[in-house]
Amino acid sequence: MSAFYEETILSVHHWTDTLFSFTCTRDPTFRFKSGQFTMIGLLVDGRPLLRAYSMVSGHWEEHLEFLSIKVQNGPLTSRLQHVAVGDTVLIGRKPVGTLLPETLLAGRNLYMVATGTGLAPFMSLIRDPETYDKFDHIVLAHGCRNVAELAYDDEINALSKHELLGELAAEKLLYYPTVTRQDFKHQGRVTDLIFSGRLPQELGLPPVDRAHDRIMLCGSPGLLADYNAWFAEHGWVEGNNSTSGEYVIEKAFVEK
Ligand code: A2P
Repeated sequence: MSAFYEETILSVHHWTDTLFSFTCTRDPTFRFKSGQFTMIGLLVDGRPLLRAYSMVSGHWEEHLEFLSIKVQNGPLTSRLQHVAVGDTVLIGRKPVGTLLPETLLAGRNLYMVATGTGLAPFMSLIRDPETYDKFDHIVLAHGCRNVAELAYDDEINALSKHELLGELAAEKLLYYPTVTRQDFKHQGRVTDLIFSGRLPQELGLPPVDRAHDRIMLCGSPGLLADYNAWFAEHGWVEGNNSTSGEYVIEKAFVEK
């Protein structure tokens, strides 16, 4: 059996010159947990060319959805950005990842912190009712350079009206989009905003505290490095697939 499913592109959405998303068919035997990633890609000169991508779609949805940057000379994304409806995409059969509610101890508020396409796994998680079980609030903090890069903002804002998730989202989900290079209602990096206490304060929450709060991170290497230093300084304990902790990290799947 091949290590990949061959799926068909159903739709493509270009958010900006450097950001796009697409949906594709899903093999009924492909099972994953919200927040996981898998290898996806294309056949190039007869060989699979793959990169790790988090599923944007919920684990219960019929199709799959992915969010990607476009790198003009990137081996995969220079090609993947041109996919069209009806094209074939390869989807790895083995989803993995640590951004799962079970890797975290129960707590008061869960902060999902993302930059750029690091938003992807959190889109899947906020569409999973189970994510909300262990926490009073889920804060989704997404940092980008410009407003146009705040992918899925309309969808996130509309989640409180969703047929199945509406009640949970309205009660527990707090969305905090922020940009660093444009005027907007929220400005600044998702590091400074949380470390300084400004973000929780603006949402009416107490400052982030490892005794009560949990953090999931997905984004740029700089984001992860800054948080790692802060976690170490404040004694936060990392969780993984075998032991629950106070925070978990997924690396950004950015092509260099
Ligand atoms: P900035 O504009 O200050 O660099 P990119 O498009 O380069 O991936 O960046 C996405 C967002 O992540 C930008 O808003 C960028 O801010 C921000 N960013 C870059 N480095 C860090 C970091 N170390 N911590 C938090 N946010 C960061």
